[in-house]
Parts: sequence; C-alpha cells; structure tokens
Amino acid sequence: MTAHELAYRIQGGAPVVGQITALGAKNFATKALVAALLGDTPTQLRNCPPIGDVAITREMLEAIGVVVTAQGDTLTIDPAGIRSSGVPIPDSGSNRIPILLLGALLHRFDEVSVPVLGGCKIGERPVDFHLMAIEHFGGQVETTADGYVARRRKRLRGTQIKLPYPSVGATETCLFLAATAEGRSVIANAAIEPEIIELITMLRAMGAVIFTSAGREIKIEGVPRLQGTCMPILGDRIEAASWACLAGASDGDITVSGLNPNHLGNFLAYFQQVGGGFDLLDERTVRFYRRTPLRPTVVETDVYPGFSTDWQQPFAIMLTQANGISIIHETVYENRFGYLRALNELGANTQLTTHCLGGLPCRYSDRNHEHSAIVVGPTPLRADGSVITIPDLRAGLAYIIAAAIARGTSIIRGVHLLERGYGDVVPRLSRMNLRIERVPLGAVV
Ligand code: EPU
Repeated sequence: MTAHELAYRIQGGAPVVGQITALGAKNFATKALVAALLGDTPTQLRNCPPIGDVAITREMLEAIGVVVTAQGDTLTIDPAGIRSSGVPIPDSGSNRIPILLLGALLHRFDEVSVPVLGGCKIGERPVDFHLMAIEHFGGQVETTADGYVARRRKRLRGTQIKLPYPSVGATETCLFLAATAEGRSVIANAAIEPEIIELITMLRAMGAVIFTSAGREIKIEGVPRLQGTCMPILGDRIEAASWACLAGASDGDITVSGLNPNHLGNFLAYFQQVGGGFDLLDERTVRFYRRTPLRPTVVETDVYPGFSTDWQQPFAIMLTQANGISIIHETVYENRFGYLRALNELGANTQLTTHCLGGLPCRYSDRNHEHSAIVVGPTPLRADGSVITIPDLRAGLAYIIAAAIARGTSIIRGVHLLERGYGDVVPRLSRMNLRIERVPLGAVV
C-alpha cells in the first residue's frame, strides 16, 4: 500500500519519552544527489534518509541515465552514463529539485530541460533568482508550458551576482554553475544555512575551489572538472527541533542523537525562553524536556542564523500549551500557516493577520498575506476520532505533535506529504511510547 492510501491513527494525551536518532537531512541529501552529477567519477553518500524526496530525486537521476545503487543507507551515484538532458517528472511526483538540475546539468549539455516544480504549497515560490543566475553565467532560459529550458553556446563563465534575497535554492544553483565555470565568481547576499556550508564542503572535496567570508559572500575559482567523493549526510536539524517540541509540548523527555547541536542555533534559545530545557549528553546527542511551565514568546522566522521557517510549525504546537499570548511572524514564506485551522478544531486558539507582528524587515508587509499568527494558550487539545489533513510537509509533523498531546484519537491523512521528508516515522515514534499506527485510509475515513 502506498503512503497515498494510508493514514496515521494516534492515541494521544501522554508524555512522549524515549530516544530517537535524527536521520540524514532531507535538505542536504537531495542537493548532494545533484552535486554528484558534477563529478566525472562516482560519489558515495552515506546516511541517506529513507524519505520520499530522496526517492523522487533518485528517480529523476535514473531517468536521465545516472546509475544509482543502494546498500543500506549508502547511495552510490555514477553519473558517467548520463545520456539525456531532458528531465521527466517521476511517477511519484515532483519536488523542488528540477530547478537545481537545470544549472547543474548545463555544464554537460548545450540544452537542458526540466519539468515544472512540485514541493509544498506554502507560497508562490518563484524561481526568478535561479533563472537570473543562469543568464548571468552566460546561459539563456526559456519558460515553457511544461517547465524550463536552459541553453548555452559555450562554456559557462564566472560572474558576480548579488541575490535579491539569501535564497537557499538560488545559492545552490549559483554554486553548481560557478564550480566548473570559466574564471572567478562572486555570490553576494548568499544563503549560509548549515546545509549550504555542507554542500560547499562536498564540492571542495570534489575539487572545487570555494572561499567563504564574513558576511554573505562566497567566491569561487572555476576549475575544468570535478571528481566524485564520499560524503556523509549531516543529521537533520529540522527533524531534531521537531522532536524537541514534541518533548516540550507533551511534557515528555526525548533524547535525540545524530545531530550537531550547533545547527540548532537560535532554536535552543527560544526553546529555553518558553520553558524548555536541554542537556548536551555528548557532541551528537541532546536530551530535551520541559523545565518549567511553558511561557509565551514572540518569534520571527528568518534566514540562517535566524529562527528557521521550518521550525515554526512544531514550535507553534508547543506555544498552544504556553500560559499567555504568543506571536509568530513568518517572514520567509507568505502562506505558511495553512495548518492552524485544523489545530483550532482540536481546541487551539489561534488567529491570523496580514499585519507584520514583529520588527524584522518583511517582504510581505502591506501585501495582504496572512503571515502573522497569534496563539493564545494554554489550550488543552482534544480529539474524538477527529480527521485532520496535512497541508504540507512540516505541518505534517506539527499535526503529529498536536495529536500526541490531544486527549483521544486523531486520524491524520495526507501522510505521503509528511513521508516525503520524515523517514520511518511510525516505528521510531512507537518506540518512544507514542500510540501511533499506519492504517488504510479506507478503514478510517
Ligand atoms: N525566492 C524567490 N525567488 C527565487 C527563489 C526564492 O523569490 O528564485 C523566495 C521564496 O519564494 C521564499 C524565499 O525566497 O520566499 C526563500 O526561498 P528559498 O529559495 O530559500 O527556499 P527553497 O530553496 O525553495 C529551501 C528548503 C525549504 C526551506 C527554505 C528556507 C529545500 C528542498 N527546501 O527551500 O524547506 O523552508 O529553503 O530555508 O531545501 C521543507 O523542507 O519543508 C522546506 C520547505
């Protein structure tokens, strides 16, 4: 049975207690698969997570002739046989990766076509910075009904580019374009998320010459060719923060291993500020729990090192249990609060507003997007066979946390969206005494 035909049934209301390992980061694993295409020889990626987005990306690579073999959690990617520059949409759907393939494959082919993008519906998510970057490096891009076609007449040439916003994906496109372009490139206002720094390390191991500096500037000296490498996938900091929120919201006690605590940055500060506690057990293991009754806060999402937009959904569930009024100002995506309506049905008290409830510069002020949320707590959550449908991947994990703290039974549908980013969810959470099972959709709704 596929994830499309399944739902989760969760019996909540008890503290979640136990140990869990953060799997390899989705937002690096999929990019590392693309980076491997820049090499002349095979690349080995260790600690690849068993998630839908890796499977979708693998399918796209195999469709153009890349040989991908799996042994345990290690994927070996051999790009030697790439024979096609036309990337099709995989049967299992699309994600955000095609736009990265456009730049990465343009070194090999004079013309590359990729399909329209998938991924979560959390805003308009334009790709104008990617297209602008390709043109800066000497390519031309055409937008078609099916996707994008990029062309070049000669080798791509290094350039100076200032991104209008420190976009993760556009920074990755620039790195892929610059690594083997002719001459020097400078990317200003680049993203510096841990997954970007990891990608730079991987490209360096493949032979790229990349300098980072204080501020958001990256310099690249183009080299004629790169070779394959061996790269471990770092632990997922988004997943780790979600388990911390599960511990805090359920008044549980969860030990998370497999992550670099430094990558949690300001999350740890906010977690403590609202009453969460943590102990560093060793350099890759953190124990999370509730230290005091939960307090409200004001949090604004931002690019790294700010509070990640991917942390706000699980954190919002924790805030429903805080004693007072919390504010969340989402400045990265204009439409990332779609999950709050279902939360209110479980008993939460949240409201949305189009105003900027915060001090950060925000691209969405006066644009009529409901991008600030008010969370009034504490509100005990309750479920009586309630059916909630996941609107996007990160909201999916937030719903698991909501169902875990709600008294009664919740049915969560749309789990294929969640399983695009989280692997082995049911067995891992069952081992932490959460009563969760995968059930056929037809049996519960
Ligand atoms: N943007 C543009 N034009 C562009 C590119 C981006 O206007 O050409 C805007 C976006 O619309 C958004 C902002 O810039 O408002 C930031 O987007 P960014 O490019 O940084 O996001 P992304 O690369 O598409 C990745 C993650 C997201 C994560 C963001 C921000 C992957 C596959 N996705 O998306 O993760 O929220 O960076 O950190 O790496 C998720 O994992 O669920 C997820 C959505």
